[in-house]
Amino acid sequence: MKKWLLLAVFLALMIASVLHFAVDVGVVLPTNVEPRWVQDETRFREALKTTKYSVEILFSQGSPAKERENVEALIAKGIKVLIICPHDAVAAAASAELAKKAGVYVISYDRLIMNTEAVDYYVTFDSVEVGRAMGRFLVEKVKPGTKNNPLYLYAGALSDNNSFLFFQGAWEILQPKIADGTFRIINSSEAQKVQNKKNLTRGEMAKIIGQITTNWDFNVAKRKAEDDLTRARAADKGTVYILAPNDGTARAIADAFRADKDVKEYYITGQDAEKASVQYIIDGKQSMTVFKDVRILVKDAINAAQLLLEGKKPTTTAVYDNGKKKVPAIQSEIQVVTKDNVKQILIDSGYYSEKDFIWPKK
Ligand code: GAL
Repeated sequence: MKKWLLLAVFLALMIASVLHFAVDVGVVLPTNVEPRWVQDETRFREALKTTKYSVEILFSQGSPAKERENVEALIAKGIKVLIICPHDAVAAAASAELAKKAGVYVISYDRLIMNTEAVDYYVTFDSVEVGRAMGRFLVEKVKPGTKNNPLYLYAGALSDNNSFLFFQGAWEILQPKIADGTFRIINSSEAQKVQNKKNLTRGEMAKIIGQITTNWDFNVAKRKAEDDLTRARAADKGTVYILAPNDGTARAIADAFRADKDVKEYYITGQDAEKASVQYIIDGKQSMTVFKDVRILVKDAINAAQLLLEGKKPTTTAVYDNGKKKVPAIQSEIQVVTKDNVKQILIDSGYYSEKDFIWPKK
């Protein structure tokens, strides 16, 4: 009798622990080295307080192998929905297929997983519009009627499908101004080769991005900018225009350009409204950032997951071709932040608080 009781207690404890450690939704983010993804983690934790589902958030630390390990661990914990932002768009396909085989819904988050049918939904911002906004900003800063304004191009990681979407949008706006001589490309022979072509193929973009990639790494960005400035002539400096793909790389590149005595003035783009870059914008060291309200992205991802857990279909607003499938997407808008509207867009909206920054004395 005592033996059966012990076994029953043991079994009950086992079941309780499995239920206790069971996870409904798994979230996998690329790395916590970059402030952008720490923002997402914070916003996920805030938003999850209001949901009845158990959620676990894991980081892949820039490694496809770690990413796969994370996905395997979450599947073992019984997740029914996987929200994943891939480190490498193509390498992540195998992890998505693993989840799919285990009967898990796969939501691609911010970045699209490529070349697989195993993605059910994509939650993102309009990344092509991010690039267009950057291009428009630089064009608007050019003094009317001037020609041969030095243009320096930088891009994100080749392994990130967003890098292509950002560049496609920026090129759409910048190319006509390169072709008409307003801008002169300084640091990319591959971009110079196709400067009279409006719509580039993925292959042509890959060649350019391969040459100007920052790999989303601050140090790579800084070194690249310093090398470009070392190679450039004084005539390629003065007032310059810089397409930087996000905030982290923009600060590194801006530091390199500010340190060059032949650079008198620079206009530089950014993205993500990272706190450090918002301060750079207030201080006039970065010209703009494309604000992507991560609270919206997180809400859309959690809503989609909850609907799927309740056997319902999320409403989608766009479609993305990932090379194997037309993936239904929930797409959010972006906003441009400059020194003139930083308070209105980032403080009044409660995204950040005024005391997070040092403001110029009135
Ligand atoms: C992109 C993302 C950006 C950015 C970058 C670096 O995919 O959309 O917001 O910060 O990755 O991680």
